[in-house]
Amino acid sequence: MLDQATNRLRQASARSRSKHLFNRAKAVFPDGTTRATVEKDPFPIYVQRGEGAYLVDVDGNRLLDLNNNFTTLIHGHGFEPVSEAVVDLLRSGTCFANPTEHEIALAALLTGRIPAMERIRFVNSGTEAVMFAVKAARAFTGRPAIARIEGAYHGAYDWAEAGQGVSPGKDGWDPAPIATPAYRGTPPSVVEEVHLLRFNDVEGLKARLSAASDRIAGVLIDPMPSRAGLMHPEPAFIETLSETASKYGILIIADEVLNLRQGYAGASARYGLEPDLITVGKIIGGGFPIGAIGGREEVMRVFGTEDAKPSLPQGGTFSANPVSMVAGRVAMEAMTPDAFNRLEKMGERLRGSLRASIASRDAPYSVTGAASLFRIHPKRVAPTEYRDAYLSAEEASHMRRMSRHFLETGILLPYGAAACLSTVMVNNDIDLILRAFDNFLDADSQSGKDRVR
Ligand SMILES: Cc1ncc(COP(=O)(O)O)c(C=O)c1O
Repeated sequence: MLDQATNRLRQASARSRSKHLFNRAKAVFPDGTTRATVEKDPFPIYVQRGEGAYLVDVDGNRLLDLNNNFTTLIHGHGFEPVSEAVVDLLRSGTCFANPTEHEIALAALLTGRIPAMERIRFVNSGTEAVMFAVKAARAFTGRPAIARIEGAYHGAYDWAEAGQGVSPGKDGWDPAPIATPAYRGTPPSVVEEVHLLRFNDVEGLKARLSAASDRIAGVLIDPMPSRAGLMHPEPAFIETLSETASKYGILIIADEVLNLRQGYAGASARYGLEPDLITVGKIIGGGFPIGAIGGREEVMRVFGTEDAKPSLPQGGTFSANPVSMVAGRVAMEAMTPDAFNRLEKMGERLRGSLRASIASRDAPYSVTGAASLFRIHPKRVAPTEYRDAYLSAEEASHMRRMSRHFLETGILLPYGAAACLSTVMVNNDIDLILRAFDNFLDADSQSGKDRVR
């Protein structure tokens, strides 16, 4: 059945307008796309428009979107209150060198909700937010290095990406991992200043931080790293991190660019982490480019005070542009505690039912995630760290088959990353996902039997 699905996709693809656009794109972009994260299996699906929980591609297919621009669109596509507010704003100008009242409104909303965020600065992306948070930790402590979690994704700042792509048998895959350059030509000094930690490894964390305590400015940690496996932080890991960091004067930088969507006060608050600095992005821009760095007032003084020049100047032509500020405020105002609770319940139902489907078939899969996020793994035991979640070539091909099967059913399931729900989804959408997964598991076990025969 799965092979039939693949065949149908191939036949359809011969006439596909997406395929045609991809051929045109190859003439202008080095690999035919303009971001490395675009799925190309076998070519990208070009979007015509979004409609709430769904998107419509250029071939007229309507797909339930579980990607939501990499978890950005917490209200799905074309959320009316944001569209109206932005349309109103557009005629009065989209960016100024001067500040606007809009930035104060979004800042007040975020600092009012997120305990770790006593002060805030806006930038244009999660990458930029992480970059400035790392620089802020360096400027505050006067130390050059950072520690970060093996396999976690934090955007494209050199120091934040060293160590994100460690793989079995390659350099760095030691019991105590060693950061390796993310790409050829990375200056050796970058990896020398990055110390890798394994998620949920309490003893490794203590040993690593104490060994380089006089050089480490901050520990960069996503409380539930999505690309590394989207697994829960164990309470002992969070406690040890807090104690060890405080003992050595190392700052904790919580990267919540993705995981802020876990609750009204964010993910750190949910898991008992009290960071000194916090980075956010994605949902806070209401579908427009954004990032922000927040933190303790004392640490945020590196960006300057009323009386003192900044030790870390931070500007940015489009930082705090009114479009992102207004869209973000309207989107976040709609994320009331009730809206978060509803998403939480929908997510619990989905993850619980996916797990029940796996258990009833004794299928070799597991599910991780929390709140509106989930990830299906082709692993019998749910991962607790990056090494458990790492996909072998065979497992990667299982996941590709699963994504193709979902696509055939009319669902866009991200591959190797967190999938997410949005506030505009309803129970029928969850049922659609569950049916697609049940069918996949049945077909998967049948094709396994066929392979054995
Ligand atoms: C945890 C985390 N940090 C940083 C980033 C980078 O954000 P952006 O893509 O907005 O630069 C991402 C993006 O997915 C992320 O998930």
